[in-house]
Amino acid sequence: MSSVATIMDAQRHASLRAEFPILSRMVHGSKPLVYLDSAATSQKPDAVLDAMMNFYRTSNANVHRGGHVLGTEATERYEHARATVAGFLRCDASEVVFTRGTTESLNLIASSLGQLLGSSLANKSIVVSELEHHANIVPWQLLCERTGATLRVITIDDHGVLSLEHAEQLIDETTAIVSVVHVSNTLGTTQPVREVCAHARNVGAYSIVDAAQSVVHHAIDMRDLGCDFLVWSGHKLYGPTGIGVMCGRAEVLEKMPPYQGGGAMIDDVQWERSTYQLPPLRFEAGTPNMEGAVGLAAAITWLQGLDREQLAAHEHALTKRLEQAIAAHPSARLLAGTSASRTGIVSFVVDGVHAQDIGVLLDEQGVAIRTGHHCTMPLLRRLGASSAARVSVAAYTSEADVVAFEQSLAKALRILAA
Ligand SMILES: Cc1ncc(COP(=O)(O)O)c(C=O)c1O
Repeated sequence: MSSVATIMDAQRHASLRAEFPILSRMVHGSKPLVYLDSAATSQKPDAVLDAMMNFYRTSNANVHRGGHVLGTEATERYEHARATVAGFLRCDASEVVFTRGTTESLNLIASSLGQLLGSSLANKSIVVSELEHHANIVPWQLLCERTGATLRVITIDDHGVLSLEHAEQLIDETTAIVSVVHVSNTLGTTQPVREVCAHARNVGAYSIVDAAQSVVHHAIDMRDLGCDFLVWSGHKLYGPTGIGVMCGRAEVLEKMPPYQGGGAMIDDVQWERSTYQLPPLRFEAGTPNMEGAVGLAAAITWLQGLDREQLAAHEHALTKRLEQAIAAHPSARLLAGTSASRTGIVSFVVDGVHAQDIGVLLDEQGVAIRTGHHCTMPLLRRLGASSAARVSVAAYTSEADVVAFEQSLAKALRILAA
């Protein structure tokens, strides 16, 4: 394989990789780990691990409660994390709600916006696309069951991109909510979400962008996207698990009722009724994931310290190399072909071979990939598959990782063909 100019300089990249302790471990005895499953969860740099440990070692106390030194420090660090997220998305800190992740963010919106819209949803439609992760399907199905609303689905083209023409047909005056994925977690294709949000705005519908796979690869400006809500998970952006973001436009959040009740989200509690805090605290009942927020802020700061354009070029070049390595096998089929809009994720199926068998044989060689339905069962069915193998890259993925994948895939397919 020839070297591609946009792959990061090997020496500089080696020092970036060295910041991720897990990448130097061996698996199955003496095999170096080749981690190509970053779309499922990313590995964490020292900066994130140290920030979380430092929080527990120096500032641990409950936030927004204690008047003592530690309580004040912990609150400052938690709110500093919120401000860091706001700077990252170019929105206001009051618009950043910490959740457990994308899944909880979407359930929060479905529940709270569902209550706000109430019985008016009975004759309304909720629009998603064929690409959605189950986390952006099931909460809307539940809301439809509760209210009588109808779920509508935007189709995709052969390159794994949603049809704007169909979106325009489906999003009409009956539409109350439009919720679409920015980068497909199965295909890696980037979607025209700005245009979809504009259609939603034109008919007075609320718009939601599932940015779980895009925040790590694209610089995102919430205002520029024009959505009402943007949701994502910290663990896919070099941050810890159990922390995520539901970013909502201030005017919308202010109208929404609480999602859960408990400590910190109230203004006053009386037996007759309670009153609530303004957003974002209204949506953060109970003790939050403080060290998670601190770790997430460290991850964002770490990412912002890199040249993101160079990083995107590096990830794009590696993605293309992975596509080539797979396409070199006549029995392999890239899902959605070689799409120009693909970012960091490639899925494929092989004639007559179960994806899981490929995953097992690669794992034996130290290469970690993901196999299965990728929480997108309707999408896989649409693409004529029940299971697929998926490789995905991150900042720390190296050219050597791609070569290792290429060699181990060739070996696995030889064994499976025998
Ligand atoms: C596009 C997309 N949406 C939603 C999710 C759910 O994220 P989480 O499991 O972190 O809540 C994922 C996770 O893979 C995803 O890729």
